[in-house]
Amino acid sequence: MIGGGVMGEALLSRLLSQGVYAPDDILLGEPSPERRQVLSEQHSIQTTGNNLDVIETSQVILLAVKPQSFDVVAKDFKSARCAAPPLLVSILAGVPLAKLEAAVPGWPVVRAMPNTPATVGAGMSAIALGSRAMSDHGALACKIFSAVGEVVQVPEVMMDAVTGLSGSGPGYVAIVIEALADGGVASGLPRDIAHQLALQTVLGTAQLLQKPGCIRPS
Ligand SMILES: NC(=O)c1ccc[n+]([C@@H]2O[C@H](COP(=O)([O-])OP(=O)(O)OC[C@H]3O[C@@H](n4cnc5c(N)ncnc54)[C@H](OP(=O)(O)O)[C@@H]3O)[C@@H](O)[C@H]2O)c1
Repeated sequence: MIGGGVMGEALLSRLLSQGVYAPDDILLGEPSPERRQVLSEQHSIQTTGNNLDVIETSQVILLAVKPQSFDVVAKDFKSARCAAPPLLVSILAGVPLAKLEAAVPGWPVVRAMPNTPATVGAGMSAIALGSRAMSDHGALACKIFSAVGEVVQVPEVMMDAVTGLSGSGPGYVAIVIEALADGGVASGLPRDIAHQLALQTVLGTAQLLQKPGCIRPS
């Protein structure tokens, strides 16, 4: 894994707790020594400040840096010497497969878009396969993102729509919940009760709508 921030740690902790990988399987590249120490202590994984260590020794590279850090990491990819091309799985919002594939010529690449409920194992992720990614690469990517919730595979042309809907959706839903609670407070409820009512109503409605037949695709 390259990048041990919010999403990186969410994926890391669930991949370990779900048994998809063992701590010994994982090497994390992360520039901050403090962050490296926290993550290695909490998850018993190996960490490094040099991304080349990760790139040159891994079969799968999960890229979880901010999109604006991609050009720096791309230089690491360029100078790396890999015995066999690893699978690159990127969760960078808005970085297309063409740009990812140009940074790692000949490698299989999967572009993925998880969302923040992944941190509690209730995420929704979409994956799109690059031109050199085969069905077994897709299956492996599905296995990785299944550890943090549900996964769908889509053509890359749909990834911006995915980013707008499930990638950004938690932000919209949080505002709806806040607005419901505010409405309750304005109608005389104590804040803690209004918050509980709003939260459970949205959670329960989502669970109800998941029941077969509740929503018919048209
Ligand atoms: N959060 C979401 O809802 C969400 C949803 C879907 C996809 N994503 C995608 O997930 C990615 C990560 O987002 P995030 O929220 O986890 O960001 P984040 O918390 O800022 O994590 C990024 C991590 O990458 C590290 N980093 C920076 N430069 C690096 C380098 N050259 N090599 C290795 N690591 C480096 C950062 O370290 P420092 O802090 O020390 O710089 C930080 O720990 C983004 O591309 C975003 O588009 C996020």
